[in-house]
Amino acid sequence: MRKFKTVLVTGGAGFIGSNYLNRLVPKHPDVHFINFDALTYAGNLQNLTSIANKPNYSFEKGDVTDESRVRGVLETHDVDVVVHFAAESHVDRSISDPGNFVRTNVDGTLVLLHEANRFWTQRRKMGFFHHVSTDEVFGSLGAKGHFTPTSPYAPRSPYAASKAAADHLVRAFGTTYGLPYVITNTSNNYGPYQFPEKLIPLVIKNAVAGNAIPVYGKGDNVRDWLHVEDHCEALEKVLFHGKESATYLIGGSEESSNLDLVTTLLDMVDTVLKQPIGKSRQLITFVKDRAGHDFRYAIDSSETQQALNWKPKHTLQTGLLETVQWYLSHEDWLRDVVDESYLSYYQRQYVDRESNQSRTA
Ligand code: NAD
Ligand code: DAU
Repeated sequence: MRKFKTVLVTGGAGFIGSNYLNRLVPKHPDVHFINFDALTYAGNLQNLTSIANKPNYSFEKGDVTDESRVRGVLETHDVDVVVHFAAESHVDRSISDPGNFVRTNVDGTLVLLHEANRFWTQRRKMGFFHHVSTDEVFGSLGAKGHFTPTSPYAPRSPYAASKAAADHLVRAFGTTYGLPYVITNTSNNYGPYQFPEKLIPLVIKNAVAGNAIPVYGKGDNVRDWLHVEDHCEALEKVLFHGKESATYLIGGSEESSNLDLVTTLLDMVDTVLKQPIGKSRQLITFVKDRAGHDFRYAIDSSETQQALNWKPKHTLQTGLLETVQWYLSHEDWLRDVVDESYLSYYQRQYVDRESNQSRTA
């Protein structure tokens, strides 16, 4: 079992990072967790109210591309382990603003690697760098087959390309400088505190408001869904038991086409709101497809399950119902994140884009 005192968690105010901290901080009082986050539109300290006053938790506002700030935090807190979540994470935004993704996901990862490696070398410390990555680096699958740890890299969106570049940098620091690292590549997460630009919270939010539910293309693209708590349990095991230089693929083994997923979700919303089942389905609206839309992701996580003695506890049905109930009982949280910047993003992504299409059709 790995022993350490201080963990720097980057991007801990985002969706997965906050679920990770909410799980680990109370469970490991002897470890100090520092949340380093720039608080972009996707970062929200409200996700962390249950741990904000714990003695083994601190928040440091900062940008992963800021070398001197990263160096200062590593030194001030004498960091032993970095768990790197911070990223621009939304594929649609990477299509309209790829530069921002290269800046945070590539440049930011390089800064962290460089500063952590320098700090641990100077202090003669055996550090550990856990890079949290995505299955999208492996590209798009057809109807059959699964991603495995030996799948070739074939990213197709600017987001996926930036995450792939970051993965390569992490391995290069391991090979060239002997930096101890691990990489995890994970499938689509869902659950509490996900920003409503991603499919599942967006569907729930729009259904409650009686707004159109935008389904890209024909809705036949397939994703492999994993509840965020199951993901965080696997990440916790990697932190304490993950083998150096290993790659762990973490998936839910719960594939669904987008249209099936949306229909299931909408029926669940009707059930929880005690509306006639089928009412919300009428909101489904097929819209222009995502450019370069990856058809299918699916992970074979059998090696990881065996190596970490882990498997997901949620089925897609139980996980989705819990998630619908969570969003419907956290309307304040949803109301607060739907601010002006969200509304202008929504206008650009869904309203302007569609009307541009009708003009060119
Ligand atoms: P998110 O967008 O919800 O959160 C990202 C967090 O990073 C936010 O708190 C944001 O403020 C912070 N951040 C962004 N740019 C920063 C910068 N320059 N400096 C410091 N902080 C910055 O993302 P998420 O969905 O929680 O994803 C977390 C990580 O997991 C990402 O690396 C993502 O690629 C990876 N991942 C996500 C999924 C998924 O389904 N959401 C699946 C696999 C892998
Ligand atoms: O596979 C892991 C990845 O999963 C993570 O690395 C990314 O950070 C995360 O955002 C997610 O990427 P996707 O692009 O798969 O997630 P998103 O929720 O954006 O979309 C899921 C599917 O739903 C995808 O096929 C596109 C479709 N979609 C999405 C939105 C937002 C729609 O049909 N309508 C929508 O409005």
